[in-house]
Amino acid sequence: MKIRVLGSAAGGGFPQWNCNCRNCSGLRRGSLRGVARTQSSISVTSDSKAWALVNASPDLLHQIRGWPQANPARSIRDSSIAAIILVDGQIDHAAGLLLLREGSPLNLYTTAAVREDLLEHFPVIPMLEKYCGVNWLEIQPERILSVANLPGLQFRAIPIAGKAPPYSPARNKPRLGDNIALAIEDTQTGRVLFYAPGLAAFDDSIRAEVARADCVMIDGTFWIDDELIQQTIGHKRASDMGHLALSGDKGLLAELERFPHPRRILVHINNTNPILDEDSPERRMVEAAGIEIAYDGMEIDL
Ligand code: MLT
Ligand code: MN
Ligand code: ZN
Repeated sequence: MKIRVLGSAAGGGFPQWNCNCRNCSGLRRGSLRGVARTQSSISVTSDSKAWALVNASPDLLHQIRGWPQANPARSIRDSSIAAIILVDGQIDHAAGLLLLREGSPLNLYTTAAVREDLLEHFPVIPMLEKYCGVNWLEIQPERILSVANLPGLQFRAIPIAGKAPPYSPARNKPRLGDNIALAIEDTQTGRVLFYAPGLAAFDDSIRAEVARADCVMIDGTFWIDDELIQQTIGHKRASDMGHLALSGDKGLLAELERFPHPRRILVHINNTNPILDEDSPERRMVEAAGIEIAYDGMEIDL
C-alpha cells in the first residue's frame, strides 16, 4: 500500500488566513522554522493507479496540482481518484467535494449520519447532483468495505468518540457514525494503516487497532487541551471539539509510546500547535518518542 499525505493541517491550514498566533505570524515573517500545511486529507492505493481519496479538503485543487499521479492522462478528462471516503462531515474534510464537480459521478462513501448532514445541513450531495452526480455508498461500522475500482484494499470503519460538525444538529446529540476511524488493509500484503485524524478518546478498542496496525496516522490537532484559551484565540477546549490533546499523563503521546511497533505519524495538526515549530521543545519531545509529524506531500510505502 502506498499512502500520500495531501494535507497535514487541521481546519484553517497553516498559516491560517486570519491568524496571528506565534506559529502563523512566525511562519509568515520567516522567523519560525517550519513549513506551510494545507487541510486534512490523505490518499491511499495498492497499485499506484487507482487511489482512494480519504477526506476532500477545501485545499484539494492545490493538493492535486502538486501530485502528478492524480491525473494519469488516459483520456481527455481523467483522474486516478476512484472513490472518496469521508471520516466525518467537517468542513475541512467535506468542502472539497464541490471541487470535483466537473468529472463523472463521484463514488462517495460515508456513514448514514454523515450523509444526513451532507443532504440536509451542508447540502453538498444535492448540489453535486446538479453537476456530476453522486453514487453514495454507506459505510457501516465494523463491516469490511470493498471500494469501487480498488480491489486491493479493504476498509473497516471503527466508530469513535468525537463530535459532529458545528453546523450539524447532532453537534451536541452524538450519533453512531458522526466520526469514524479507518483500518485500511492491503489484501495482498496484509499490511494495515489505522487512520484517525479526529479522536476524542483513546479507549481499549483504539488500543487494539493501534496494536494491530503497521502504520498509525492519528489526531495531532492540539498540544494541550486549553491551547486556544491559553493563546487567547477562543473559548473552546480540544475536548469540546472532539480532539484528545497530545501532552499530559493521559494524552495521546503517552498512549502512543506504549506501541513501539507501528510507524506512528501525527496528522490534522492545528496551526496553534507548538510541534509545528521545528525548533520547539515540544517538537523534540515528539521526535524523541519516535513519533513522526506528517507534512504535505509525505509518501509512505507500507
Ligand atoms: C476540527 O476537526 O475540529 C476542525 O478542523 C474544525 C474545522 O474544520 O473548522
Ligand atoms: Mn478537522
Ligand atoms: Zn495560527
